Amino acid sequence: MSGMVRKRVAILISGRGSNMAALLAAAQGPAYPAEISLIVSNQADAKGLATARAAGLATALVEHRQFADREAFERALQSTLETHRIDIVCLAGFMRLLTPSFVGRWQERMLNIHPALLPAFKGLDTHERARAAGVKIHGATVHFVIPEMDSGPIIAQGAVSVHDDDTADMLAARALAVEHKIYPLALRLVAEGRVRIVDGRCLIDGAAFPDRSLIAPSTD
Ligand code: GRF
Repeated sequence: MSGMVRKRVAILISGRGSNMAALLAAAQGPAYPAEISLIVSNQADAKGLATARAAGLATALVEHRQFADREAFERALQSTLETHRIDIVCLAGFMRLLTPSFVGRWQERMLNIHPALLPAFKGLDTHERARAAGVKIHGATVHFVIPEMDSGPIIAQGAVSVHDDDTADMLAARALAVEHKIYPLALRLVAEGRVRIVDGRCLIDGAAFPDRSLIAPSTD
């Protein structure tokens, strides 16, 4: 494409990689402002890593277990990202906590997806906790990464209904479909430079929010 310089994106995974796959699919679009330049896994057996290799993508395995400490692991991660001239990092089921120093290097350039409507249900087992709490609306959040876990300015959210007879797995599946919509949307907004952080909140430049349905409760 002439005229458009796409941002170079690395996706960091530890497992299944379904959000990775959703981002890859979106980035196939001719007008998408980002290209997926690298997939990094910290787990050799991550299913998503096999998917990425099969798709012929550039991949890197940076196994935290191979390093003496968190800092050494992150130095290796940083150097891999620099080698591939990465502009934006997307965490997608990446199950390592990152130090404030690493996070600081990627300030406003690192995104995460969390399977709940933040700031509710930070941490693990979000679907079971949402079900047990009896919330009627649940969902997913894409946010910029700050040192504090599952915090940071919210870029996009999507909601789903919680049904009385839902199991955690049923709720997870419903919310995952929303994840696969909002992550490509959020990355697009960031890559286009349309997200400004003001007083800890993301303001989206340009027209109205691109898809109102993503911020309204779904009726399913
Ligand atoms: C997703 O639910 C994501 O929100 C959470 O971890 C899960 C990763 O799934 N952070 P996948 O590897 O993208 O399929």
